[in-house]
Order: sequence, then structure tokens, then C-alpha cells
Amino acid sequence: MHTRDLALIGSGAGGVESLRRSLVEPALARGWRVAVTLTPTAGSWLEHCGERDEIERVTGLPCRVAARLPTEPRPHPPADCYLVCPASANVVAKLALGIADNQALTAACEAVGEQAVPVVVFPRINAAHARHPAWSSHVETLRGAGVHVLAGPDSDLPWNAVLDVVDEVSGRTG
Ligand SMILES: Cc1cc2nc3c(=O)[nH]c(=O)nc-3n(C[C@H](O)[C@H](O)[C@H](O)COP(=O)(O)O)c2cc1C
Repeated sequence: MHTRDLALIGSGAGGVESLRRSLVEPALARGWRVAVTLTPTAGSWLEHCGERDEIERVTGLPCRVAARLPTEPRPHPPADCYLVCPASANVVAKLALGIADNQALTAACEAVGEQAVPVVVFPRINAAHARHPAWSSHVETLRGAGVHVLAGPDSDLPWNAVLDVVDEVSGRTG
């Protein structure tokens, strides 16, 4: 049976420090293989607290931050679903504009453009982020491209509910 591969992209927003316990391990328990890529900000935070190594230990895959060398093979398997969680306001804006200036955004922007597998984005933002004049157009742009953008500012949606959406849009329910 094909392993279900989840590409999980974490950014420098609230809760990323508990990414392993809140999202990676629950996704593994649901039968996903989980390949984590972090923005440079999230990468430095998780490196500092030792969580990057812990994520590699539980997933059995490299926890990526940097791009591979052109001569290196792709370190992650092809994904059946992309989940950007938590998505900073910065990541949502760049994703909407197609700015792929790090490995996490490169993977996410490609997934949005390819439209081959579902892309779920859970922004972890506050009211000020949402009041930025460009915010609503970024969300509309992504939704218009078929991206599942969940919730709004200051959402207390539990990350297990985010995984329910991942399962649902990937045809994993029932
Ligand atoms: C402790 C801390 C918590 C933060 N939490 C958030 C957050 O919840 N949402 C957000 O959009 N930005 C948050 N930021 C700001 C982002 O980390 C900052 O915009 C950063 O440039 C995002 O980089 P990235 O999107 O490449 O990960 C936080 C910053 C710090 C220092």
C-alpha cells in the first residue's frame, strides 16, 4: 500500500515550537509519513530548542531548512498533501505573491502552482496582521487557486482539527 506523504511546512509563528507534539506525532499516528520543512526563522527557533533533531528522530526524514545542492537527490518524498502550519502573515503574503526565497516557500509555491495535490494553509496571525490592506487579497488569491486557507485572525482552531481537514481534502476520511 502506498504510504501517504504529508509535506508539513512550519514558519515563525505561534505554536511552531510545539510542532512535533501538536502536529507531527498526531499526523504520524493517523498513518501519514511526515516530511517537515521549516522557514529559516522557524528553523533557527527549533534548532535552538533541540526540536529540529527530535522531528528528524520521529519522522525518520531530514527536517529541511536549506535548499539541496543541485548535485544532491531530493531529500523528501513526493507529497500527497501540503500543510503550511503555522503559517505566519509573512509566509501567507509571500505564498500569494509567489515569492520563493527559501526552501519552505519554494516547495509551497510549487505546490500551489502545480495544483496536483491539496494545499492546506493555517495562518497563525493576529488582528493587526489581518488589518493589513493586502491581507484579504492574499487570502482571496490563494483560495482562488484552490488552496484551503483555514480560519482567520486569533483562531483557536486546534491543530487536530487542521489534520481533520488534511485527511478530508486528501480523501482520507471514512
Ligand atoms: C516570539 C515570536 C512570535 C511570533 N509569532 C508570530 C505569529 O504568530 N504570527 C506571525 O505572523 N508572525 C509572528 N512573528 C513574527 C514572524 O516570526 C516574523 O514576521 C518572521 O519574519 C516570519 O518569518 P517566516 O515567515 O519566514 O517564518 C513572531 C515573532 C516572534 C519573535
